[in-house]
Amino acid sequence: MSQHKYLVTGGAGYVGSVVAAHLLEAGHEVTVLDDLSTGFREGVPAGATFIEGRIQDAARWLDPSYDGVLHFAAFSQVGESVADPEKYWTNNVGGTMALLAAMRGAGVRKLVFSSTAATYGEPVSTPITETAPTAPTSPYGASKLAVDHMISGESAAHGLAAVSLRYFNVAGAYGTCGERHDPESHLIPLVLQVAQGRRESIAVYGDDYPTPDGTCVRDYIHVADLAEAHLLALDAAAPGTHLICNLGNGNGFSVREVVETVRKVTGHPIPETPAPRRAGDPAVLVASADTAREKLGWKPSRADLAGIVADAWAFARREEQDV
Ligand SMILES: NC(=O)c1ccc[n+]([C@@H]2O[C@H](COP(=O)([O-])OP(=O)(O)OC[C@H]3O[C@@H](n4cnc5c(N)ncnc54)[C@H](O)[C@@H]3O)[C@@H](O)[C@H]2O)c1
Repeated sequence: MSQHKYLVTGGAGYVGSVVAAHLLEAGHEVTVLDDLSTGFREGVPAGATFIEGRIQDAARWLDPSYDGVLHFAAFSQVGESVADPEKYWTNNVGGTMALLAAMRGAGVRKLVFSSTAATYGEPVSTPITETAPTAPTSPYGASKLAVDHMISGESAAHGLAAVSLRYFNVAGAYGTCGERHDPESHLIPLVLQVAQGRRESIAVYGDDYPTPDGTCVRDYIHVADLAEAHLLALDAAAPGTHLICNLGNGNGFSVREVVETVRKVTGHPIPETPAPRRAGDPAVLVASADTAREKLGWKPSRADLAGIVADAWAFARREEQDV
């Protein structure tokens, strides 16, 4: 197996740390660049070189010895982006511009970027394909879409080999790498906080959606399946092209199904609190992952919701013991 050297921006965060661990296991050399704004030093997997710094200053560290960059560093709270949009344009868009310039300067010509389902906004139809209209409903989604456009231009003009992976709902954990967002906004860790006694109940925002049980349906993808897609994307990236792939299981689970699964996995009754619908919450967000299967040869192997929840629960309990 040929070994490569990769820069992982945001590798102290949830997804970046899991991908960094997979790269190391595959025998690659990994440098994590992270400013710890939302990440954790202890999240960086053992074996990776750690640089505490910002992507805005990537030119200080990138040199021609790198074979590519996996770019996770970003702010990603939808609500915060609505209240403070400039924070998102500055970091996500401005930061990536600086990173692309640093890559160009160092002659590093391969990029895998964390894009998001939020680039699509309200789906016109489901499952969502990559040709669906992009109409983000938040500055967060808009900032990620702007970066996707920036990368397309970079590939066409300067020969960058690029893949954007548009994640749907990432969940689960991988050993000591898992979700530690603060504030937490993702459903599975929030429901697990109820099981841990850290919150009294789980708010269910709307139960009158046109779905089988009336609650919103989302596509949950195990973070380890997602990580495998990144390694395949590094192999598939071709000079001068920008491939965009959705990453999801193609299977939706409702909020009620998630809560019920957490009850089964944890044995906790998990009280629910009914709450009104939230603005901008589509009824169903499910990915078509056909492009990822076809172009990357990717196949998720951990699509079972109980397994995803069990891994997240094991991580949450380990964290609790460490505190
Ligand atoms: N978690 C999900 O469900 C999900 C879904 C879709 C897309 N994404 C995208 O995946 C990526 C990773 O998400 P995550 O859930 O792991 O988030 P996270 O907040 O855990 O990780 C992001 C990391 O980037 C770092 N960072 C932020 N700005 C930086 C900067 N300017 N310079 C250096 N480091 C910086 C943070 O400190 C953090 O460690 C993000 O780009 C996010 O938009 C995540």
